[in-house]
Amino acid sequence: MQFIVAIDGPAGSGKGTITKRISNKLNLINIDTGAMYRCVALECINRGLSLSQKEKIIEISKQIKIELKDDEKIYLNNEDVTKEIRSKEVSKIVSQVSAIVEVRYNMVKLQRKLAEGKKVIMEGRDITTYVFPNADVKIYLDASLEERAKRRYKEIKDNGQDITYKEVLNNIKMRDENDRHKKVGSLKIAPDAVLIDTTNLTIDEVEEKVIKIIKEKSL
Ligand code: DC
Repeated sequence: MQFIVAIDGPAGSGKGTITKRISNKLNLINIDTGAMYRCVALECINRGLSLSQKEKIIEISKQIKIELKDDEKIYLNNEDVTKEIRSKEVSKIVSQVSAIVEVRYNMVKLQRKLAEGKKVIMEGRDITTYVFPNADVKIYLDASLEERAKRRYKEIKDNGQDITYKEVLNNIKMRDENDRHKKVGSLKIAPDAVLIDTTNLTIDEVEEKVIKIIKEKSL
């Protein structure tokens, strides 16, 4: 039987970390929808496309093969791109790429298909509102802009990439703005989602809260 845990929130709110941990603990399939939009953005860069070549970007979103493997690795056209999709270059354009309505339709179709008949935890920006408005569990994770930028900065540095805190902060600000004003699938809090502000919480504390909510709903 299908069981959907939907988690939304802005960049750096802790969705990715929490989703990975909970998928392992509760045996749910982890679907990182941001990684899917990042694959489309990476393919645009690989083919030397600019953001104005909308038709070509839409074509890419229809043709590319995206695989989310059990070991959390992301494959694009049979190649491991787990690291590349987190690059500065991809982060710079992914929000604009994901704002193209037809790209969203293609990705949402794939997201719904990946979850068909399965027990999944899916994270993104529009999962609780658009992809699965009837999800069994709906959670919105948030945190202050500065805290989110701090977390992302540490994550990127730990991955060995060269970046300044200011660059990360500006990128998150720009993506927040774009993600909140998309024509389709904009980031907003579903009226029936449980809101958790993670600014002053540890990952363990957030995990505990989320697991409690899931267990309550799955009784
Ligand atoms: O979660 P992330 O930072 O990896 O997501 C990358 C971008 O993809 C983000 O700026 C917005 C977009 N995105 C989206 O529009 N809808 C989703 N469900 C997930 C991500």
